[in-house]
Amino acid sequence: MCGIVGYLGSQQATPIILDGLRRLEYRGYDSAGIATLDQGQVTIRRAEGKLARLESLLANQPLSGTVGIGHTRWATHGRPSEINAHPHVAGGIVVVHNGIIENYLELKRKLLDLGHRFSSETDTEIIAHLVEQHFKETADFESAVRRALGEVRGAFAVAILCAQQPDRLIAAKQGSPLVVGQGQGEYFVASDIPAMLSHTRQMVFLDDGELVSFSPSEMVFSTLAGEPLQKLAKTITWSPVMAEKGGYRHFMLKEIYEQPRAIADTIAGRVRENLGEVFLEGLKLNESELAALDRICLVACGTSWHAALVGKFLIEKHVRLPVEVDIASEFRYRDPVVTAKTLVLVISQSGETADTLAALREAHRRGGKVVAICNVVESSIARESDGVIYTHAGPEIGVASTKAFTTQLVSLYLFTLHLARVRATLGQEKLRTMLSDLLSLPRKVEECLGLDAAIEQAAQTVFQARDFLFLGRGNQFPIALEGALKLKEISYIHAEGYPAGEMKHGPIALIDEHLPVVVLAPHNATLEKVAANMEEVQARGGRVLAVSDRADGDLLAKV
Ligand code: M6R
Repeated sequence: MCGIVGYLGSQQATPIILDGLRRLEYRGYDSAGIATLDQGQVTIRRAEGKLARLESLLANQPLSGTVGIGHTRWATHGRPSEINAHPHVAGGIVVVHNGIIENYLELKRKLLDLGHRFSSETDTEIIAHLVEQHFKETADFESAVRRALGEVRGAFAVAILCAQQPDRLIAAKQGSPLVVGQGQGEYFVASDIPAMLSHTRQMVFLDDGELVSFSPSEMVFSTLAGEPLQKLAKTITWSPVMAEKGGYRHFMLKEIYEQPRAIADTIAGRVRENLGEVFLEGLKLNESELAALDRICLVACGTSWHAALVGKFLIEKHVRLPVEVDIASEFRYRDPVVTAKTLVLVISQSGETADTLAALREAHRRGGKVVAICNVVESSIARESDGVIYTHAGPEIGVASTKAFTTQLVSLYLFTLHLARVRATLGQEKLRTMLSDLLSLPRKVEECLGLDAAIEQAAQTVFQARDFLFLGRGNQFPIALEGALKLKEISYIHAEGYPAGEMKHGPIALIDEHLPVVVLAPHNATLEKVAANMEEVQARGGRVLAVSDRADGDLLAKV
């Protein structure tokens, strides 16, 4: 995933693009670059590493021009380096790209035969050379872009400049996100909304196979094949502050503390507690379609997959419908059974995860209905699904999912209760109780966040450990997996999530005083068994950090 930004207007482009890139750093941060056009002259600045490196470079070597494009990269083809950083240029054609060109080697060979010489290891540079080649033949920038993009296979969102047509900026997409912003006599294009939000709220979402051509007086939409298109702008209501760090040290921390708000927003307007009813506005499947289902497949990646594992517990317990859970990158390769009675529920924060999108398309191909639980409005996954349950978590800028995860769980809970009412597997009284529990969740999460000082203290006692084990039973096992993933991702500490009952079948051999064990021990039917697991850990000299919902003398005695 990378972030791209483009600007055409009357202001200096560089500060606007830099600001946009700063808000897109969550999409990638191994290198960055900006190109501007000034009096037909292309100038490029690129730097390896975080955006701050590019900012220092620009402070010493400023760029002028009122048209420009920028990129923040997360390497796919070619290691992170200045030479591989975007923008890439060939004969006055300048390109930034998010996505992967699958046939780039084949195209590269063809271009080498035509005399093109490459300076990077990226797939993106192919696009610059292809456009250059077609521009030589047609002398028309827009048709050169169309022809070039017609030759590439794979995913792209691109923004392209041409030194010979300095008052134009062209952008197009296939499989990667791209949003267009319209200001007063100025235009923006970016991978995501926050990049433009401080300049405009009027945004147009490009669909796959679409192209937009900007000039100082207009923006013109068309398909990649050249058919004219009318696209309507939507007014985005997110405040720019929602996309800022809000006083926290980093986005992840801010987003952790946003959870009560995010959860409340996800529930808002969807619950009629007195009737025991849930209303999911975007679900689109009517009650008879829901009643006819004979199976649900939950499909997702990473954290969203952990949410899916919890979803299986919820749906099977309360709806008594068989549920399978798949890792999205495996789904399409295992010849899955999907029929007209299967609901495939894909879960994705970004709505752009390539494997989840591919699984969604596979499910459609096999005749299944697809509903998405998704955070990003108008994302590819949201648009291609038959129905959507949006998690109203707001933008998740921190790469590590936090509020996205908890709002996914809330959405799964809402969906479960809706299904349970439609299929009459839970009575009204039970539904009311469960909804009332749900409505108290924001307050309970607030209480948990109030424990931050005690949690920090506990962390002080174990922060030097190099390995951790996370244990949980039942629906706490996926939470253990998520805890381990967060520790790996954020602290670079090796951690494993395990079903507590499986510990004796192998991992117990690892336990000693150097391996802290985080045990998820809520007061539920499995608590006694979990307590027994804690004793096993302690018998081997291991240290237990228990996470529970109630202070319990017996339990604490084991910690
Ligand atoms: O946007 P998605 O939910 O589809 O992303 C899937 C995973 O990449 C994501 O959940 C990832 O595992 C988390 N950000 C890790 O914290």
